[in-house]
Amino acid sequence: MEEFHKVRRLPPYVFEQVNRLKASARSRGADIIDLGMGNPDLPTPKAIVDKLCEVVRDPRTHRYSSSRGIPGLRRAQAAYYNRRFGVKLNPDTQVVATLGSKEGFANMAQAITAPGDVILCPNPTYPIHAFGFIMSGGVIRSLQVEPDDGFIPALERGVKHSIPKPLALILNYPSNPTALVASLDFYKDVVAFAKKNDIIILSDLAYSEIYFDGNPPPSVLQVPGAIDVCVEFTSMSKTFSMPGWRMGFAVGNERLISALTRVKSYLDYGAFTPIQVAAAHALNGDGADIAEVRDIYHKRRDVMVDAFGRAGWTIPAPAASMFAWAPIPEPFRHLGSLEFSKLLIEHADVAVAPGVGFGEHGDDHVRIALVENEHRIRQAARNIKRFLATSAKQPNNVVPLSAHR
Ligand SMILES: Cc1ncc(COP(=O)(O)O)c(C=O)c1O
Repeated sequence: MEEFHKVRRLPPYVFEQVNRLKASARSRGADIIDLGMGNPDLPTPKAIVDKLCEVVRDPRTHRYSSSRGIPGLRRAQAAYYNRRFGVKLNPDTQVVATLGSKEGFANMAQAITAPGDVILCPNPTYPIHAFGFIMSGGVIRSLQVEPDDGFIPALERGVKHSIPKPLALILNYPSNPTALVASLDFYKDVVAFAKKNDIIILSDLAYSEIYFDGNPPPSVLQVPGAIDVCVEFTSMSKTFSMPGWRMGFAVGNERLISALTRVKSYLDYGAFTPIQVAAAHALNGDGADIAEVRDIYHKRRDVMVDAFGRAGWTIPAPAASMFAWAPIPEPFRHLGSLEFSKLLIEHADVAVAPGVGFGEHGDDHVRIALVENEHRIRQAARNIKRFLATSAKQPNNVVPLSAHR
């Protein structure tokens, strides 16, 4: 039977292949060190869990909640933007709570996209950036660029060669998967370009608080007038180690926020009220929990870069995010990222995310997530050192023959 129209547009998840191999290695008793999925392993801070438990006892919170977010939560998010970025937002018209930023992003795509609309999207990037629009009937024009001098020329080419003219541009800094960070000057240039060309900017700032070298990543909304064309998405998942709670936000341009709010009002009743109250409590905190999470990722980053480097795999230190974007070591590069990731599971008991899962231009890298403790990261490096040494001596034993074709 033929696949449904929408399902046909969703290729099988590349990560699923790695997950299957991981599961089968585990079922054979292998102790796989899982640096694959960006699924934070740290517990949600106790004060946030306590607040949830306290609120859930009140039966009034068991009813349907508010799709756009309870007022106290939207106020807390507006206060966070003011404190952190100096950006003033109206919590009634410029903030909407989402069921994680992924849901917010996908439903924004649904709210604004007409069939055939062109979207400028980074490649490699977090899959929902492209597939949210593909599911909504949009067309993706990939941008294989870094946030540097080449970015505006790439946008100019994108506008010149797209029919119809692009509707929107996706930004994601700190980037998943490349961990690259953008400066405020970069955002100023991009906002000026977007305004001149009447293009919407959707900025994914999921890693706003996970940075390591004393340079907090800016918000695109810090650019004066950016709110005329921008919406930005943030997430509680990484900042407060709350991935399973499904809580995020979209903030910015009123027309866009109103479109997303309208679509959501047809689809959901909002997160469970105790989750919303606990999320507001987290956002209104003194920042100590955030600093603790940041510090843990920072230490893991340093251990990973050092230990993998000593194992013979030089990996650039990410300035932010919870990922390292690691070039595949030379002897294996021709295999591509999926085959190399499979080899690491089979021969080093280490799982990573193949770069091709983030787009074709990611295929010479793998993404390493800092979601195991320092001890396990060191163990992963030892395993990889052994694997690299063995494969150098007996390449035919580790490189699948099919890959030579
Ligand atoms: C760049 C980026 N955006 C969004 C998300 C989704 O976050 P959430 O849990 O808020 O849906 C992730 C999760 O890994 C991410 O890396």
